[in-house]
Amino acid sequence: MAVPDIAFINGRFLPWHEATVPIEDRGFQFGDGVYEVIRTYHGRTFELDAHLNRLDRSARELRLVQPYSRTQWTEWIQQGIRDAGYAEAKVYIQVTRGVAARDHAFPSKITPTVVMTIRELAPFSAKTRETGVIAKTCDDLRWGRCDIKSVNLLANVLAREEAKQAGVFEAILVKDGLVTEGSVSNVMAVQSGTVVTAPEGPRILSGVTRTVVLELAKTGGIPVREQFLPIESLYTAEEVFLTGTTVEVLAVVQIDGRTIGEGRPGPVARALASRWTALTGESPLL
Ligand code: PDD
Repeated sequence: MAVPDIAFINGRFLPWHEATVPIEDRGFQFGDGVYEVIRTYHGRTFELDAHLNRLDRSARELRLVQPYSRTQWTEWIQQGIRDAGYAEAKVYIQVTRGVAARDHAFPSKITPTVVMTIRELAPFSAKTRETGVIAKTCDDLRWGRCDIKSVNLLANVLAREEAKQAGVFEAILVKDGLVTEGSVSNVMAVQSGTVVTAPEGPRILSGVTRTVVLELAKTGGIPVREQFLPIESLYTAEEVFLTGTTVEVLAVVQIDGRTIGEGRPGPVARALASRWTALTGESPLL
């Protein structure tokens, strides 16, 4: 029998089909909540503290009380991963403001709703990693606080759907002619051997993978510059790659029908991907 996916609501693990949230949850009604996606390597969470720090920060920025301590979260996440028993798992955590009669302003008394799911993580196809992926640009229609990992993902959903309809892997978001990030990833380019990526701030989500990859670049002697790139310079970059929990380090070989570099993963993406595999203990694919 297949191992059941594990669900958790408000401090209790329970069978998947019993895991429901009231219809007046503000996450459902307003998208009033925050989330994190954490993965394991060899059954162990990767950069758990960085993810939980970001969850705390996102919640704080929305004046949403994140109800559990770091120790409590860590125990529950470890328990969930153990009980699910997958070779590799993807942990999804969502904290919403809670359940109340619908009114836009915050209710005076409210208890947050906390949900966690643990799903099996399908390894990314080695072939896709070797060939790289295709992307298209989309208007970045998001709000002014993309640094908050909010469950309000409508603009990301629409962009990702646009990419899917076009038969490509990722939507690269462009605001006022400048590249911000991907719909589910951060975007990096290589110009004259330097890794260039949008700076932290309200226009992007500061990816946990982004931070680790920039550090890997610096310690590996690859210069880094945090600067917004006009979309035209992305087309002419030596390389473009995505970073993120689900994509890790993934080369982009074509954008809007234009070939990037040689049309295959370039040396910087390959070097960073192999440093990534060394760090996470995966088997090298590039
Ligand atoms: N998304 N930018 C956006 C808009 C994202 O949604 C994500 C991740 C990232 C990369 O962040 P990190 O390296 O911390 O995973 C950047 C997750 C995986 C998701 O929504 O499923």
